[in-house]
Amino acid sequence: MDRLEIKDLHVQVEGKEILRGVSLTIEKGKIHALMGPNGSGKSTLAMVLLGHPKYEVTQGEIWYKGQNLLELSPDERAKLGLFLAFQYPFEIEGVSLSHFLWTAIMERKKSNGHAYPSNPLEYRKELRKHLQRLQLSDDFIDRYVNVGFSGGEKKRTEILQMLVLKPEIAVLDEVDSGLDIDSVRIVAEAVNAMRGPNFGALVITHYQRILNYLTPDVVHVMIRGKIVRTGDVHLVHELEAKGYDWLIQEVGEEVQT
Ligand SMILES: Nc1ncnc2c1ncn2[C@@H]1O[C@H](COP(=O)(O)OP(=O)(O)OP(=O)(O)O)[C@@H](O)[C@H]1O
Ligand SMILES: [Mg+2]
Repeated sequence: MDRLEIKDLHVQVEGKEILRGVSLTIEKGKIHALMGPNGSGKSTLAMVLLGHPKYEVTQGEIWYKGQNLLELSPDERAKLGLFLAFQYPFEIEGVSLSHFLWTAIMERKKSNGHAYPSNPLEYRKELRKHLQRLQLSDDFIDRYVNVGFSGGEKKRTEILQMLVLKPEIAVLDEVDSGLDIDSVRIVAEAVNAMRGPNFGALVITHYQRILNYLTPDVVHVMIRGKIVRTGDVHLVHELEAKGYDWLIQEVGEEVQT
């Protein structure tokens, strides 16, 4: 009930096995960090959690609230309270940010007890509050989703969506990459504001700096499609100081097989 459980997940993309037996539990009330070298499969895991059709699950299960997520559509997963902030946010020409989020709220509202704004006025007021917190101007409300946004603005818009939709489990894929120093702190503080017994997050990142503001309770390291280490925040400092090579050597055989 209060956790999302990934069990022995194997995933292929275009015939190539990318995830090779990932087991990981995201607990509500906790911030989990997921780190790992480029190409190790972190974004693949994020995409599979949210049900991207391109990724073929060949083995394993993902359980949340007594349901096997793999049997649910992306929409159904969102309704259950899952949210993904993309590493490369997509643009939606012709759809304003405010319209996009309003539609998403209306869907989400049907299926949970959160307090969402009940009319457009209240909604716009809430949007402005979040925009202010993320240091984005009010103009963003009426701009097309991500069209012409700078890299950092796109990342902050992903966080805006999270604040508005109030998910129970958020997967944040590199929301800190490409952000200036102040924006990293702003984004981390916004995630901190979500902390609580009914919110768990998987924060995928390469850098210690976001984790300085957003202290993870659990840290996982993925190498070549497997979780090879799980520990606490000390693991982040160790990786920052030493890189991944020592770990790759230590777990060498494990990740070859
Ligand atoms: N659609 C795809 N087609 C072909 N290969 C893919 C596809 N998606 C992922 N891969 C491959 O899967 C591997 C894992 O990619 P993934 O994006 O999950 O890595 P990552 O851990 O998120 O890396 P990064 O830290 O660079 O974001 C890579 O070798 C990548 O090229
Ligand atoms: Mg990635």
